[in-house]
Amino acid sequence: MTEQSPALDNLLTESRTFPPSEEFAGQANAKAELYATADADREQFWAGQAERLSWDTKWSQVLDWTNAPFAKWFVGGKLNVAYNCVDRHVESGHGDQVAIHWVGEPGDTRDITYAQLKDEVSKAANALASLGVVAGDVVAIQLQMLPEAIFAMLACARIGALHSVVFGGFSPTALRARVDDAAAKIVITSDGQYRRGKAAPMKANVDEALQGAETVQKVIVVKRTGSDLEGETPWTEGRDLWWHELVDGQSAEHKPEAFDAEHPLFILYTSGTTGKPKGILHTSGGYLTQTAYTHNVVFDHKPGEDVYWCTADIGWITGHSYIVYGPLANRVTQVVYEGTPNTPHEGRHWEIIQKYKVSIYYTAPTLIRTFMKWGDDIPAKYDLSSLRVLGSVGEPINPEAWIWYREKIGADKTPIVDTWWQTETGAIMISPLPGVTSAKPGSAQRALPGISAKVVDDTGTEVPHGGGGYLVLDKPWPSMLRGVWGDEERFRDTYWSRFSEQGYYFAGDGAKYDQDGDIWLLGRVDDVMNVSGHRISTTEVESALVSHPTVAEAAVVGATDPTTGQGIVAFVILRGNAVDGGDDAVQELRNHVAKEIGPIAKPRQIMVVAELPKTRSGKIMRRLLRDVAENRQIGDVTTLADSSVMDLISSGLNSGK
Ligand code: WTA
Repeated sequence: MTEQSPALDNLLTESRTFPPSEEFAGQANAKAELYATADADREQFWAGQAERLSWDTKWSQVLDWTNAPFAKWFVGGKLNVAYNCVDRHVESGHGDQVAIHWVGEPGDTRDITYAQLKDEVSKAANALASLGVVAGDVVAIQLQMLPEAIFAMLACARIGALHSVVFGGFSPTALRARVDDAAAKIVITSDGQYRRGKAAPMKANVDEALQGAETVQKVIVVKRTGSDLEGETPWTEGRDLWWHELVDGQSAEHKPEAFDAEHPLFILYTSGTTGKPKGILHTSGGYLTQTAYTHNVVFDHKPGEDVYWCTADIGWITGHSYIVYGPLANRVTQVVYEGTPNTPHEGRHWEIIQKYKVSIYYTAPTLIRTFMKWGDDIPAKYDLSSLRVLGSVGEPINPEAWIWYREKIGADKTPIVDTWWQTETGAIMISPLPGVTSAKPGSAQRALPGISAKVVDDTGTEVPHGGGGYLVLDKPWPSMLRGVWGDEERFRDTYWSRFSEQGYYFAGDGAKYDQDGDIWLLGRVDDVMNVSGHRISTTEVESALVSHPTVAEAAVVGATDPTTGQGIVAFVILRGNAVDGGDDAVQELRNHVAKEIGPIAKPRQIMVVAELPKTRSGKIMRRLLRDVAENRQIGDVTTLADSSVMDLISSGLNSGK
C-alpha cells in the first residue's frame, strides 16, 4: 500500500454522516432487512432477484461454481435479454411510456416510447439477420450517444450476437485492435459526431481503422452530421450501408429467441496492466439480474414515476449496465444526451434536468469537480427540485465534491450513492442504499445485499477495522465477468492468482475499513491510471510514446489532479539522448499519443529526461517519478541501481528542461 496517493488519505479524516430522512426511508425500495435475508441464503436471495426477469425456461440450479473461476448462474435457464428490456413492457400495457428522451447536442430532440423502441430494435434485428449475422457473431459498435447505439446493442442481444462497443473517442488503431481481437463481422458507426458545437468526422476514422481488416464484411453507417458538413462521407461500395436504407424498410416484427442464461451478451475492452486491452466477457441471465436489481435498490427507481439520467457514454461499462440493460429491464424513462456538458453553455445539464424533471442523476466525480469549478451560480439558476437521488461512479469521490453535490445539486437533502464497481464486476457491488444507509461522504461503505467484499493484507488475511489493504470479492456474484476474450490464462492471472489460495477475486484497488467497518476505496494499486473515471494503463501510454521515432524510452505515471482525479505525466528519454525536447517536440508527442490511443490518453505533461530511475533488475520505479510529478519530496531511493539518477532528473527539471 505504499503506492497510493497521499491526497486520498485525506478521505479518512472525514467523519460527517447523513442519515436518510424518514420520508425517504418510508418509501424506499430497499429495506435494511435485505442484508440479513441475503446473508441467510445467498443463492435463494439471487433466485428471488432473478424473478425480476421474464424467463422462457426456469433455471434448475442457481449457481454452479464447480469450475471456478468460471461461474455459471441460473443453470439451464433461458431468456431473451432484449425481450426483457423492451417487449415485455409493451405487453404489460406500457407501450406509450417514454423509454428515452434523447437530446442532441445542437438542441434537436427525440422521444422514443417503449412501443417505438420495440419496433426499432426489431427492425435492426431483422437487418442484422439479413446480413447473415447469427447468434455468437461479434458486432463492433463505434457510435456516439445516439438512439441507434441503443437500438443496435439491443438488436444484437435479441439475435444472440455479441456486441463490442468501442468508445467514440478511441483512435483508429484502438478500434482496429478491438475489431481484430474479437474477429468482428460487422461494424456500426456514424458519418460524424457533434463535439462542442462542431461536427467531427467518424466514418473516415473507421475507414482508416478497417484497412485490410479481414473479418469485417459490412459497415453500417448512421447518418448524423450529414455529409454536407464535412464533404462526402467516404464510402466503400459493397461493404458500406446506410443505417436508414438498411433498417427503416425492415419489418417491425421479430420473434425473440430464448438463449441460455450463460449465452454471451457482450465483450467490452478495458485497460489492464499490460499494453493490450482485455476483452471482458459478460453473459445474459446473471448480468441482467444484477444490473436490474442494483438499478432498483441503489437508485430507488420507481417505473413510470422517475425520470432517470446516467451521464455515462455507452462506450463504457456504466453506459452498458446503467443506461441500456439495468434501467430498460426496469422500465425506466430516461434522458440520453449526445453532447458535452458545456455546449452551448455550462448550465446544459441543469437545463435538461429542469426540462425533463429528472429525479435520479448518476454521474462521475470528475464532472462534479468540473461543475464546482464553473461556479455555484450556474446550477442555482435552474429548478432542480425534481432531483431525489444522486449517484457517483468511476473513482473515489472526495468529501468536498460529495458535500457540494448534495448541497448545490441535491438541495441539501437528496441521498448520494457512491457506487463502486468495475467493467469486470458488470454491476454495482459496493454502495450505500438510499433510505437505509447513513451516508458518509467519500465512502462507498458496504457491499450490497447478496455481495461479499473484504479488505485483506498481502497474505489474504482480512484486516481489522481501521486497517488498509487490498479490496477482494470473496464470493461469486451473478454479473461477474466470465472471462477475458480468447485468453483464459490472462483471466486467471489478472484476477485470481493474487489470492489463489483463498479463491478471492483481486479487484486491483486499495481500500480501508473505518472503525465502523465501512469500506473506503483508495484508488488502483496496479499500473492502471484513472483519468476522469477512465481506465488507462501506464504501459499502453508508454508503448504509444516509444512508437514515436524520436523516443528512446518512456515511463508514465498517474499524478493526482484536482479535476480529473489523476493526470497522465510522462517521462521520456529522446533518441541520441537529446535533453532539450522543446515545446514543439513535446506537443508532437502529446498529439502522437492521442492519435495512437485517443484524446483521453493525451499526457497532461511530458518531461524530457536523461535517465529513468530503475531498480537493479531494471524495473522502473514509478513511485519516485510520481513524487516528481506531484512536486513532493522524493522518497526512498536506496533500491535504485544508480541513486544519482533522481538528482539528475530533479535538477534537469528545476532548470526548466
Ligand atoms: C474505480 C467503472 C472508488 C476503481 C464502473 C475501479 C471507483 C475502476 C469507484 C473501475 C468508486 C469505480 N469509488 N473507485 N465509487 N467506481 N472506481 O472498469 O479503481 O471503468 O477498479 O468501471 O474505477 O473502472 P471501470
